Amino acid sequence: MENFTYSWPTKIIFGKTTENEVGEHVGGKCLLHYGTGSIKKTGLYDKIVASLKKSNIDFVELGGVVPNPKIELVREGIELCKKENVGFILAVGGGSVIDSAKAIAAGVYYDGDPWDFFEKQLPVEKALPIGVVLTIPAAGSEASSGNGCMVLAVGMAGSEASAASVISTSTRKIGMYGDVLRPKFAIMNPELTFTLPKFQTACGIADMMAHIIERYFTNTRDVDLTDKLCEATLRSILKNAKIVMDDPNDYAARAEIMWASTIAHQGFLGNGREEDWASHKIEHELSAQYNITHGAGLAVIIPAWMKYVYKHDEKRFGQFAKEVFGKQTAMEGIEALKQFFREIGLPTSLKDMDIDDGKFEEMSRLAIRKDHIGNFVKLKPEDVLEIYEIAL
Ligand code: NZQ
Ligand code: ZN
Repeated sequence: MENFTYSWPTKIIFGKTTENEVGEHVGGKCLLHYGTGSIKKTGLYDKIVASLKKSNIDFVELGGVVPNPKIELVREGIELCKKENVGFILAVGGGSVIDSAKAIAAGVYYDGDPWDFFEKQLPVEKALPIGVVLTIPAAGSEASSGNGCMVLAVGMAGSEASAASVISTSTRKIGMYGDVLRPKFAIMNPELTFTLPKFQTACGIADMMAHIIERYFTNTRDVDLTDKLCEATLRSILKNAKIVMDDPNDYAARAEIMWASTIAHQGFLGNGREEDWASHKIEHELSAQYNITHGAGLAVIIPAWMKYVYKHDEKRFGQFAKEVFGKQTAMEGIEALKQFFREIGLPTSLKDMDIDDGKFEEMSRLAIRKDHIGNFVKLKPEDVLEIYEIAL
């Protein structure tokens, strides 16, 4: 096990009706930040506003965050926060809303353009405090430091590309980092996830599994406890995923899935281990170029990455196969994972998402921001290209 420092400051308020107490946790005038309309359709918006008013919290609002969130809205949010003297950001939604809130929170204290945090990989040292009401278990952003995975897209592929004001030559999706970005609290009511479309539920499940897998495949030795925690969390997700796919209103299974999404990515499962994160970087290029859903991209990339690297440590892959899926060999484990993704309605090849090999070379180059990506096996552009080809 490697040395580590671990601190998890996010207060979790979990369970039925907890969204009604959000006003009690917000510190000062806030920006209410949300997505493209689901919170208004479900009635959650009205509950949040009522709670803020009950606690005498002054607020301004900014909706419109889209999946693969855009830097343009972040700039708007920063201006709004400065103009209105906002001291707190309340993100109501999923990873896209929370990530957008994190970028605004950091940008308020930065004189330059917020895209610098991504493009120049500036560490975030100061940010407005953030609170979350989570509506989709997936990204784990409700409790993460953004470390490794806080992402934004600049411009979109196709017709929207001309609207991008920052980078016109290519579309990027990059992370930003900083412990100060960890939300102060996360309200998590599993009932709020009943309204999720099946596809989004499945994408969230793939994403949280990927967050564990990125930590599980490590070269660090003597990490027995975290191995077991990873395996148990994965088994619990597999079991409860099948239940929520059949019955979206099963509270008990929704609760397990929601808690698993946070456990998967708040850092605990990676303590003392070198983590990988190549698959996320490979997927981010797909999301950036084709505007696909992050979890769907991972359902395709993770098994392809596994097939490419498993010989590096067949024993660890054998352990994964046995402990998570009850299979005997590394390849059987990889196939079982793929089959599971298929069963919950996710794509298992790039062709399933109508993606061809046209941008493979460009994406392979863009995925490597420094010398290589990944730690379990260090990947160069030519390796990433092969992984895209396996995924095809
Ligand atoms: O826009 P709205 O109306 O909110 O609709 C959303 C959106 O269309 C909808 N939705 C959310 N909750 C709902 C609901 N619809 C009905 N009922 C509900 N209760 O679901 C769609 C997807 O929402 P989104 O926030 O995009 O999902 P997710 O949580 O999967 O977030 C994905 C983003 O998180 C990033 C991903 O790259 C992606 O951009 N990630 C962030 C990480 C982090 N900061 O630590 C780690 C992850 O690896 C991930 O990369
Ligand atoms: Zn992810």
